Amino acid sequence: MPKQSDFELVETVLPALTERQLLLRSLFLSVDPYMRGRMTGVRTYADPVDIGQVMVGGTVGKVLQSTHPQFSVGDVVVGYWGWQEYAVSDGRGLRKLDVNLAPPSTALGVLGMPGMTAYFGFLDICQPKPGETVVVSGAAGAVGSLVGQIARIKGCRTVGIAGGDDKVRWLTDELGFDAAFNYKTNKNYTEALKQLCPSGIDCYFDNVGGAITDAVLPVLNVRARLSVCGQISQYNSAQPEPGVRPFPYLLTKQARAEGFIVIQFTERFPEGIAQMAEWLRQGQLRYRETIVEGFENMPSALIGVLRGDNIGKMLVQIP
Ligand SMILES: NC(=O)c1ccc[n+]([C@@H]2O[C@H](COP(=O)([O-])OP(=O)(O)OC[C@H]3O[C@@H](n4cnc5c(N)ncnc54)[C@H](OP(=O)(O)O)[C@@H]3O)[C@@H](O)[C@H]2O)c1
Repeated sequence: MPKQSDFELVETVLPALTERQLLLRSLFLSVDPYMRGRMTGVRTYADPVDIGQVMVGGTVGKVLQSTHPQFSVGDVVVGYWGWQEYAVSDGRGLRKLDVNLAPPSTALGVLGMPGMTAYFGFLDICQPKPGETVVVSGAAGAVGSLVGQIARIKGCRTVGIAGGDDKVRWLTDELGFDAAFNYKTNKNYTEALKQLCPSGIDCYFDNVGGAITDAVLPVLNVRARLSVCGQISQYNSAQPEPGVRPFPYLLTKQARAEGFIVIQFTERFPEGIAQMAEWLRQGQLRYRETIVEGFENMPSALIGVLRGDNIGKMLVQIP
């Protein structure tokens, strides 16, 4: 688990803008589990953050000054300038937000990277059919809570696994999950899944890996589809935890497991954002944010997301 002392708060003088630049003031900073992976010093699908570098991350902010013809003072943009209160940008990788269409923080959640992860990672890889049973782990988080609702919209029976009674209640009472259980108090995961999925599991959206995913395997139906999105239960482990070998289950159930990284769908994000926005407008989709205030609280917010302090999307807001 990361510690507060792994981070350093550094103050620097902002440089004056040169041509085609803008000065940004962060309003919301995204806090995501993948940030833990950037702290291991190992290259995965992305470079690690070296010691002394600015931590990476999605950001929403306001343009304070601009010498760039495409951006005006007051524009609100989403980008990737990391853990900084202010940043100088040349405009590359920034997208302007229409604050009248949706609150700007949604560009880091339901209408941003987590939303696209849920939309493409579930629909493209699981290809759910009406009447099928979908199980989602990490179900009360940013991605999981959206996957369950998309499954419900697609006419599936939706079962969530989450780490708290308050989370379970939110899933079943407010988001329309058919069932959910608290894996921290109900330790017999396979038994719980058999009870809550009497027709077996057709689709499994895996946010957590580890013992929870092991427990799903015996309950899979023939031709089940597993979308491997995240393995958060393992992110703080120095060694892979011992566990079940999944291939015999895939073999006998003729099932398919596929990992993905959301950036593989980047070209299709406009389609995903438009559909998620439409479902929001129709009231078919709901989202929740856990907002921590104050830039200096970025490390504790990251530790919090790894510990499960959040319901829905974890964000830091700079008032
Ligand atoms: N493949 C991709 O491109 C992609 C993109 C985005 C996210 N992801 C992955 O998707 C997953 C969810 O991301 P997110 O942004 O939506 O985060 P999130 O679910 O909002 O937050 C993380 C949640 O993980 C749960 N958790 C922590 N430790 C756990 C453990 N040992 N076992 C089970 N659950 C644990 C906690 O909820 P509980 O209280 O329920 O434990 C916590 O709230 C992560 O694994 C992330 O790495 C993948």
